[in-house]
Amino acid sequence: MEKTEYITLLVEGKEIRLPVVVGTEGEKAFDISQLRKQTGYVALDRSLMNTAVCCSAVTYVDGERGILRYRGIPIENLVETHSFMEVAYLLVHGTLPTPEEKRNFSNLLNVNSLLHEDMRHFFDHYPRGAHPMHILSTMINALAVFYPNVDSLSLNEDIEISTARLISMVRTMAALAYKKSIGEPVVYPRNDLSYCANFLNMMFDSPVAPYRISEDAVRILNILLILHADHEQNCSTTTVRTIGSAQVNLYATISAGISALSGPLHGGANQQVVQMLREIEKDGDVTSYFNRVKDRNDPTRLMGFGHRVYKTFDPRAKIIKKECHAFLEKMHIKDSLLEVALAVEKAALADEYFIERHLYPNVDFYSGIVYRALGIPENMFTVMFALARLPGWIAHWREMIGTETKIVRPRQIYVGKTWQNA
Ligand code: SDX
Repeated sequence: MEKTEYITLLVEGKEIRLPVVVGTEGEKAFDISQLRKQTGYVALDRSLMNTAVCCSAVTYVDGERGILRYRGIPIENLVETHSFMEVAYLLVHGTLPTPEEKRNFSNLLNVNSLLHEDMRHFFDHYPRGAHPMHILSTMINALAVFYPNVDSLSLNEDIEISTARLISMVRTMAALAYKKSIGEPVVYPRNDLSYCANFLNMMFDSPVAPYRISEDAVRILNILLILHADHEQNCSTTTVRTIGSAQVNLYATISAGISALSGPLHGGANQQVVQMLREIEKDGDVTSYFNRVKDRNDPTRLMGFGHRVYKTFDPRAKIIKKECHAFLEKMHIKDSLLEVALAVEKAALADEYFIERHLYPNVDFYSGIVYRALGIPENMFTVMFALARLPGWIAHWREMIGTETKIVRPRQIYVGKTWQNA
């Protein structure tokens, strides 16, 4: 039996011991679940920058060393050897699928790829300019209307179907939102195509110009989706765990995760990066943009740079940058924004402001350039992030429902008026 370590706190002259929790990668925390009972104090940690809200076995991130592993496997290995559908299975079930498990999962995704026809008609009434992230969040929430029996209590019998329905249907919904936005007829999913090939076909096939599915496009889309598939307790995943703790049904829970991801400081950054690069391209160099970023009175940020956890290169950015170069070259695509991005990165990595704040390119810095090369419109970039993050959200929801039964309800320190001065 392992010996428990303790730390000692001295609170108003009284010594209290708090047990130390050590993770499998050596991360340490002291457990304060008895703090208020033992001392009357609570801990204050704005934006939870120093607080572990759970113990999880899904993903490991080391921000100092730039490490990202799903269920213990480095992303560098996974992008070389597996498809997004296999990595989705890994995240949700904890191990890579056997050939039989892979066949069953693929069949489940196929059987659940078609949107309910009544739901498809929702798209006839969305305004043309509606942002696809809002449409996606609405449609995923609507799944709870059409498939009502999905909550933690009905967990066992239909969790596999609900998992497959979400991972598969989000792809159909995303492509449908795009087709509607350009006034083209809907392209239905096909059972004979792989996960990524199916998505690209639904996005770009048309009755007058059949879409030629390129292996290179399928390969790089698999890589991008794998790299975005999970990232431990980021804002949207913590949202999913928080809402799920109230035993809200899985669809409404995922819908909330999509809303959290749409924020420009989170998943919405990939769209903002491209807009920023275009602005810098117009300026002719980075100087004026960097001056705005450094101006304390100006909220402008270098989008696609910085990270709450990574204080070195985001390992995902390294892979996307390399693959982006190779893909554009292979497809003979010239994108001036790639040159601008390389110049911005070079200038920022040599600039004291960014160096002293440990600001490096994150996952969003190059991903938009790949999506442009695939023909995906800018307002769909964050939708691509949501499509990829689905398995990660579901993995965390299943882990939380399976282990923690307490509803998330943090404390606060009240600083408002007292009854005397109300
Ligand atoms: C994602 O959490 C995850 O894992 C998220 C994610 C995932 O996979 O789920 O990795 C995906 O969301 C990536 C991040 C995408 N967002 C952006 O690229 C937006 C630009 N980045 C920043 O807004 C910022 O870096 C955050 C939001 C990502 C992180 O912000 P923090 O950790 O709260 O950093 P901070 O605000 O405490 O900044 C520390 C200092 C501050 O300067 P000082 O007040 O100390 O002088 O660094 C500065 C900040 O002003 N800073 C930036 C900056 N990011 C931080 N200055 C300019 N440009 C930036 N991008």
